[in-house]
Amino acid sequence: MARILDGKAINQQILEELKPRIARLAQTRRKPGLAVILVGNNPASEIYVRSKVKTCVDLGMLSEEIRMPDTISTADLLDRIGTLNRREDIDGILVQMPLPRQVDSRAVLLAVQPDKDVDGFHPYNVGQLVANAPAPRACTPAGIMEMLKRSRIELAGKEAVVVGRSDIVGKPMALLLLHAHATVTICHSKTHDLPAVCRRAEILVAAMGRTAFITADFIRPGAVIIDVGMNRVTDPAEAARVCEGSPAKQAAFEKNGSVLVGDVHPADMAELASAYTPVPGGVGPLTIAMLMANTVQSAESRLA
Ligand code: GUN
Repeated sequence: MARILDGKAINQQILEELKPRIARLAQTRRKPGLAVILVGNNPASEIYVRSKVKTCVDLGMLSEEIRMPDTISTADLLDRIGTLNRREDIDGILVQMPLPRQVDSRAVLLAVQPDKDVDGFHPYNVGQLVANAPAPRACTPAGIMEMLKRSRIELAGKEAVVVGRSDIVGKPMALLLLHAHATVTICHSKTHDLPAVCRRAEILVAAMGRTAFITADFIRPGAVIIDVGMNRVTDPAEAARVCEGSPAKQAAFEKNGSVLVGDVHPADMAELASAYTPVPGGVGPLTIAMLMANTVQSAESRLA
């Protein structure tokens, strides 16, 4: 039986460890503060932002949610970020991605003061990551590393394959695995014979955003699989394919008319992996935990 890597439980552990640090800051100086900027009303972004704000409030931190219309100009958004940069009570600034097309996303990432960049997306912090120097790390890959560590999954010398080369997940993930002494391969849509490359993986990270694309022929038996995908399936034929062999997923689809599935076929993963992250309840909760950890760390450094 494969071991299920329970993101919710590890999220709770991390949040519990943050509580005394937050209490100490609140008693001696002030609460850590996080500002979250949400532009427009992308439904997925709305869900993520709600969850980030709620976790922040539950932990007793200052949380400020800033909503802006999807017609916003780059200049107006930069102006708002400038104000947050200057505020003493704000330790972290997060601009939820993706941004509308007319906005210059790179200019936005550059505008966030690096010491308040709790997403780790500023080019300075990306450079620090490449150099394996201290700085806030992108939350999803950092959360995955924390999960691997707390689950005592050895990485040194292991074959790790990351599928997907995004700036938010794939690239930083590959660097963190490399710094943990894994032998790392990054794959993408142009990779020749993707199943064969993935079958080399002792640690397989799927982060390309394609529903249940990784099937049995991609999986080395006994691999540890980290599924970063989060796809909502509503089409019945597609649901039949992705739910095959997973009675719980089938039941969820029958009940709700939709089901959440990652980038890895759930039944194939459960059958072949030695350990894996479920969707939902695997990687997602860790992203939020690491955002909170980055915000507390930023407050501690700024108030030291
Ligand atoms: N969109 C998807 N993931 C993320 C994330 O980790 N941070 C931000 N800001 N936007 C995202």
